[in-house]
Amino acid sequence: MTSHLNHERAPIFETLSNYARTGIYGFHTPGHKGGRFAAPELFELVGRSGLALDLPAMTATDNTFHPTGCVREAQALAADLFGAGETFFLSAGSTLGISTALLATVPPGGAVVIPRNVHRSVVAGLVLSGALPRFARHEVLDECGALGVSLAAVREALDTMPQPSAVLLTRPSYYGIARELAAVVRECHTRGVPVIVDEAHGGHFKFLPPGGPPPALEAEADIVVQSCHKTLGSLVGSAQLHVGRDSLISAERVQHALNLLQTTSGSFLLLASLDAMRRWLWQEGTSLFAEAVAAASKLADEIDAIPSLRVFCAARDARLAEHAQDPLRLVVDVSGAGWTGFDAERFLRTEHRVEDEMADHRNVVYVLGPRDDEAARSRLLAGLRAVSKQPRSNPKARPSSLGPQPSTSLLQPPIPPLAMSPREAALARQTRVRRASATGRTCAEMVMFYPPGIPLLMPGETVTAETLAVCQQLLAAGATPYASDPTFETICVVQ
Ligand SMILES: Cc1ncc(COP(=O)(O)O)c(C=O)c1O
Repeated sequence: MTSHLNHERAPIFETLSNYARTGIYGFHTPGHKGGRFAAPELFELVGRSGLALDLPAMTATDNTFHPTGCVREAQALAADLFGAGETFFLSAGSTLGISTALLATVPPGGAVVIPRNVHRSVVAGLVLSGALPRFARHEVLDECGALGVSLAAVREALDTMPQPSAVLLTRPSYYGIARELAAVVRECHTRGVPVIVDEAHGGHFKFLPPGGPPPALEAEADIVVQSCHKTLGSLVGSAQLHVGRDSLISAERVQHALNLLQTTSGSFLLLASLDAMRRWLWQEGTSLFAEAVAAASKLADEIDAIPSLRVFCAARDARLAEHAQDPLRLVVDVSGAGWTGFDAERFLRTEHRVEDEMADHRNVVYVLGPRDDEAARSRLLAGLRAVSKQPRSNPKARPSSLGPQPSTSLLQPPIPPLAMSPREAALARQTRVRRASATGRTCAEMVMFYPPGIPLLMPGETVTAETLAVCQQLLAAGATPYASDPTFETICVVQ
């Protein structure tokens, strides 16, 4: 890669290390004073050198609100590498980036087009910004959950008046499926509507060999949010928000929104991890990911050869013609052996000491990456061979296992009518009622079941008999509710 910037530098990392080396004593925060006042077990865990670099925003280190020093330089280097106009480092995950993006693009009461299967951080962003959701249709496959939103579905949402202030898409899905994006962005841009992409799971796309999903910035998305900690090797909680080179939303506007939400005590260790990551990716990112993809493809072939197991492959499925697949997201379907993904997950964890990223009623999903442990790969393979050799007959592993209805209606739950904005409902006076008597009330929380991992209710939506019936079927099928009452016996509604 070529650039006029010096990518051999890691400005934040160097600034922190230099400060720690100067011998200056810090009569300032943090209270652990370079580890002197850290609990002994914390000291043992993080170490003197790690604690010495755990510094706050101050003159010597710059800040993330109006950066003028090493943060500004490091963000410029990241923007250059990732192909952005400007990049913001985040130390509170993509969650912070998504709310920032919504605050920067959608005024209170404005509409934002989103798919129904958004991450909970998008719902938080709706509450914070006062935006109104407009749902774009998306298809769902039993094999790999929700697919991306098609150009036709985006057009339909854009044709509805009033014109939305933004379109927010999740790409890729948890299963590593990424829908073609460039045409969607072009369509939105011809109508002056900016596109935000939740690329939480796709920060590494830039470094994949040809054939992998192109990164959203290449498709000229306006704002792209990436959880670098998920797939790029920086510390947990570190993330990036990129503003596209020709973005309809100015970087100044984004900084303004970010400054409403971010802490004044962001972790500089996390920022330094983004900086060091960027330098390494500049030097070796392409080769590291080429090696990782080669190893992943070998592993996928070996697993696919195991009787009754199947590795999900978008290229083999005509229904996924518009989709590319992350070669480092390994989706293993164990239902052919009569196992649920949940059972296989437990078995592989306890008997073969490998942990997955997630499981559903038929799949176990693994995140692969550069420098994965060879011995662990062998254990995974051995464990999956053991699954295949012990066929079970768990009816929940069947595609229709989510309930007696055709599975599509449970995978595509009905969208209840919106009685008030998510913001009004989430911030209104609330009360808790029994689920059975909640019909007609306005929901004040987000209710999701897993599977299918698609919100059944969002704040502001009317609880309908139809939605409650779907919830009942999901409960009966053993799906796990995610709501303020973990049993989902009661539900939080507007008073
Ligand atoms: C699709 C998606 N978007 C956003 C997020 C939020 O990311 P973070 O945990 O970095 O805040 C996640 C986290 O799991 C996610 O899966």
